[in-house]
Amino acid sequence: MKVIQSIEEMKKEMRRHRHERESIGFVPTMGYLHEGHLSLVREAVKRTDCTVVSVYVNPTQFGPNEDFEQYPRDLDKDAEILDEEGVDYLFTPKDSDMYPNEYRTYVEVQDLQDVMCGASRPGHFRGVCTVVMKLFHIVGPDRAYFGQKDAQQAVILKKMVEDLNMDIAISVLPIVREKDGVALSSRNSLLKKEERSAARCLFRSLQLAMEAVRGGKRESSEVVNLIRNEIGKEKSAKIDYIEIVNKNTLESMMEIKQGRTLIALAVYIGKVRLIDNMIV
Ligand code: PAF
Repeated sequence: MKVIQSIEEMKKEMRRHRHERESIGFVPTMGYLHEGHLSLVREAVKRTDCTVVSVYVNPTQFGPNEDFEQYPRDLDKDAEILDEEGVDYLFTPKDSDMYPNEYRTYVEVQDLQDVMCGASRPGHFRGVCTVVMKLFHIVGPDRAYFGQKDAQQAVILKKMVEDLNMDIAISVLPIVREKDGVALSSRNSLLKKEERSAARCLFRSLQLAMEAVRGGKRESSEVVNLIRNEIGKEKSAKIDYIEIVNKNTLESMMEIKQGRTLIALAVYIGKVRLIDNMIV
């Protein structure tokens, strides 16, 4: 596996692969890799000729009071794991190259960026779209891979690619969970022992919601109440949002329509903000 930091070198390598008519699969990440990332990496390795993974903790997607500094990082371990998975390139650009002093250009996907996580993290999706667009231009992939855990991010990036006529296929792969149901996330490593156990309330509440829908409940407000009650049982949990929306447009749904509805949550466990979701 080649580890590349320079944007120009990365572009040059990718030009060579395109010239040889090889397909390029790309997995953008912020590192501290777990099985959720690896499910994307394995799919890319299986489906494309050349696999590129980026590890870049993107400063523009963090608000001023968010956890940019605390975000977990371990580039050496990530590199070791990716090498074992058969990845061809690890791209680790520098902040000063991605966002030099005179940097002025940002990408926004209107409306979709303002709801759910966007409402509590203003500017977050502007940062995500900008960095992903830049990485897409540098790598020039045929296909890029994202996780369903970041359901809103996936919807927004699909829209960005569609609206800007980019020839990049987007694959969204299922959430990978621990045995106890907690969705894998690099931020789980920031949880204290008791908090890790409290974090189970997200999945537990989604399961309850799912059971209620299977049992015939359709009214969104009732399902939201079920989830709120379940999460309320955990002392260290503080709900940021519980949303029931159309899984493609993110529009609020008063009534659950089977197969088309996304139930999404963001919950603080202590100081750590976790998200999870389920399509019902
Ligand atoms: O999902 C993430 O890890 C990040 O938002 C992404 C897509 C790598 C952009 O920084």
